[in-house]
Amino acid sequence: MIQNLTALFSENANSMQSSTIRELLKITQQPGIISFAGGLPAPDLFPVEILKEITAEVLDSDSAQALQYGATEGEKHLREILLRRYQKEGIQAALKNIIITTASQQSIDIISRIFLNPGDTVVCELPSYLAALQTFAACRAQPAGIRQISQLEATLKKLIAENRKPKFIYLIPDFQNPSGTTLSLDERITALRLAHHYNIPIVEDAPYRELRFEGTPIPSLYQLDGTGHVITLGTFSKIFVPGFRLGWLLAHEDIITKATIAKQSIDLCSPVFDQKITARFFDRGLFEGNLQKIIHAYRQKRDAMLDALDRHMPEGVTWTRPQGGLFLFLSLPETMDAKELFQLALRQNVAFVLGEDFHCDGSGKNTLRINFSYMSREQNEEGIIRLANAIKTLREETGKRGKGGKGEEVETVKR
Ligand SMILES: Cc1ncc(COP(=O)(O)O)c(C=O)c1O
Repeated sequence: MIQNLTALFSENANSMQSSTIRELLKITQQPGIISFAGGLPAPDLFPVEILKEITAEVLDSDSAQALQYGATEGEKHLREILLRRYQKEGIQAALKNIIITTASQQSIDIISRIFLNPGDTVVCELPSYLAALQTFAACRAQPAGIRQISQLEATLKKLIAENRKPKFIYLIPDFQNPSGTTLSLDERITALRLAHHYNIPIVEDAPYRELRFEGTPIPSLYQLDGTGHVITLGTFSKIFVPGFRLGWLLAHEDIITKATIAKQSIDLCSPVFDQKITARFFDRGLFEGNLQKIIHAYRQKRDAMLDALDRHMPEGVTWTRPQGGLFLFLSLPETMDAKELFQLALRQNVAFVLGEDFHCDGSGKNTLRINFSYMSREQNEEGIIRLANAIKTLREETGKRGKGGKGEEVETVKR
């Protein structure tokens, strides 16, 4: 074994942290556990039979290209399909504005590589997507958290005064991971006004945008911008299948050119085979119907969970009511610690993810993220009953320790 690896690893590697979620997922995959911990799509919604057919078709008719290296920018046909979908939203973008990536995690990595030097600042939401925070940390960037868009201007002014002007603002505007909340039109306009005023790009991470169960869609930041300040990250993971590892980056051509060069050194190209299959899925006119099926199923699962929360949660616990996406966020009374709850919940065979891990400032100790897409409706309901029992037990234990913790209201995370 090589001695003293830490001294050999780069400073970037030494600043990388293992994801507690990945660690937790190992425990939560034990049989009998109702796991609200992962962010996984429901596998019964994967269009397996039709994918078998299309896969055979691609191999029969196009294997020389499908199994070959491809362009770093991605398959032109798939990019055109995405551009046509954007056109329907009123976004006029061209091929020079879009590349295919190995899903949005790679897009986050690419954006971090091309913008961040060690010590740079990134503004992100409190809470925000953990693996993005990990990517920023791996680049040795400093996160600056905002709880609300209304805090953005003061935060930017303060950072600029401290000579820490952020390189970009990282936002998940639609059905956020982990909170499930959505930025209002006013909040989007405010964020854009500030981005323009201070000349700071906004990275709009939008994996859940199309998973809307109700309400009217709010224009995306990219759509509202029109000045090249917004970089949008899209992915097929939650609206088709995550296993293909396909996503895209939509941005000003100068950013796309740099991103393409960065991608060359990461993986040369995203899997051509997967891109061809995905494009054919669209060509056969199956994509939108399949997406509606996913939305319908997740709406029902969300409803079952919200209903169970309303019926079983003790007083003092609050939660968000997402209009789409995969998650909701639960806040315990502030005297309670979600870490302690985690242990009690495991005894009841139910698991979740600690909200604290999504807070770049270490706050959120009384919060938890709950996924509603992976388990069945019945499991969602049963899991909430078990979680409510665990919370009641924790409340009694906290009370016995003299910390109080009975029935106090906490601020809802709803925006
Ligand atoms: C906000 C956000 N961004 C990016 C990703 C990464 O997804 P993928 O790499 O599968 O596209 C996720 C996954 O859960 C996410 O929640």
